[in-house]
Amino acid sequence: MKTEIIKINREQFEEEELEAAAKCLREGKLVAFPTETVYGLGGNAFDATASARIYEAKGRPSDNPLIVHIAEIKALEELAVDVPDAAYHLADAFWPGPLTMILKKSPRVPKTTTGGLDTVAVRMPSDPIAAALIRCSGVYVAAPSANKSGRPSTTKAEHVIEDLDGRVDVIIDGGAATIGLESTIVDLTGEVPLILRPGYITAEQLAEVLGEVRFDEAVLKKSPSENVVARAPGMKYRHYAPKAPLYIVEGRNEEVIRYINAEAVKNAAEGRITGILATEETKKCYTGGMVFCVGERANAESIAAGLFDTLRSFDETGVSVIYSESFADNPLGTAIMNRLLKAAGYHIIRLKKDEEK
Ligand code: TXA
Ligand code: MG
Repeated sequence: MKTEIIKINREQFEEEELEAAAKCLREGKLVAFPTETVYGLGGNAFDATASARIYEAKGRPSDNPLIVHIAEIKALEELAVDVPDAAYHLADAFWPGPLTMILKKSPRVPKTTTGGLDTVAVRMPSDPIAAALIRCSGVYVAAPSANKSGRPSTTKAEHVIEDLDGRVDVIIDGGAATIGLESTIVDLTGEVPLILRPGYITAEQLAEVLGEVRFDEAVLKKSPSENVVARAPGMKYRHYAPKAPLYIVEGRNEEVIRYINAEAVKNAAEGRITGILATEETKKCYTGGMVFCVGERANAESIAAGLFDTLRSFDETGVSVIYSESFADNPLGTAIMNRLLKAAGYHIIRLKKDEEK
């Protein structure tokens, strides 16, 4: 399949520029497009064949449901049944934006789109290109992240081209995604709202609107041996992984740097290159290895925005092992560490504090 690449300037564009892509969606074809979180791989959510194509293009297991993207709140009535008031309160507070709600699905949504489940995930993106594309197409757009299954999500059109060129009909290049981590997912089908995936909208922000909200157990787990089943089917799969094994090093900054520097020396002696995921504040402290700066510790948003891009960058370098600093202590820490832990297959190296030695 020949993939057409259409460049759009997010700051200033006419809806006509999206008409060819919108037509593709109406015809059951696949269009990758930017959103404020990550790029999405879109198809008509009401067309079971289009959904099946999405799974195929990504190489995604068919029990892993897709998020349906909408441009107006009234779409909720067509996609879901028994919509609780809480959904409208959340929509008022956070839509359009990086929040996905799980609701009981309406019979109109094919089970191919929902991975066989009786619930449906719905999100209204705020990115102007995504919003205009959905409006223009006149369909609801099922869209998982636009990466090959298992790889880091895509935050730039270059990443999408790398993973999906020749596998989708159109890729819209709208520049870098501003947030860089996928949406927060909240399940509203149970008695207490449950966060199935942490994201840019934090638990505290949700609690302000909902009163009570809890994390699904699987979100908080810190090791693969903890035997909890993820309620978001996608969260059970190995994910985001760079090609080389990745280890997260936890401890005080100076200790982490000392440890990684020592490992880099050892590896170099064996002819192996060490990849290092560092920050603006620490990057100059590393004396060997191949250092990539993910963002600024003082600016958690910059780390979220740079994470997937940095994980992908290692793949082009031939490093044989990667060490990453830890980010638990910043405001987006829950979401960042959730992705990083998965990328690392939960491999954490915990350094003892000096005083404990
Ligand atoms: O920010 C985002 O959410 C991006 C952009 C493109 O909107 N999309 C995205 O989709 O991250 P995806 O498919 O990569 O991740 C969707 C997650 C998966 O873990 C999936 O299992 C879960 O949402 N999910 C979807 N429908 C669900 C449902 N009915 N019940 C529970 N989990 C669901
Ligand atoms: Mg994904």
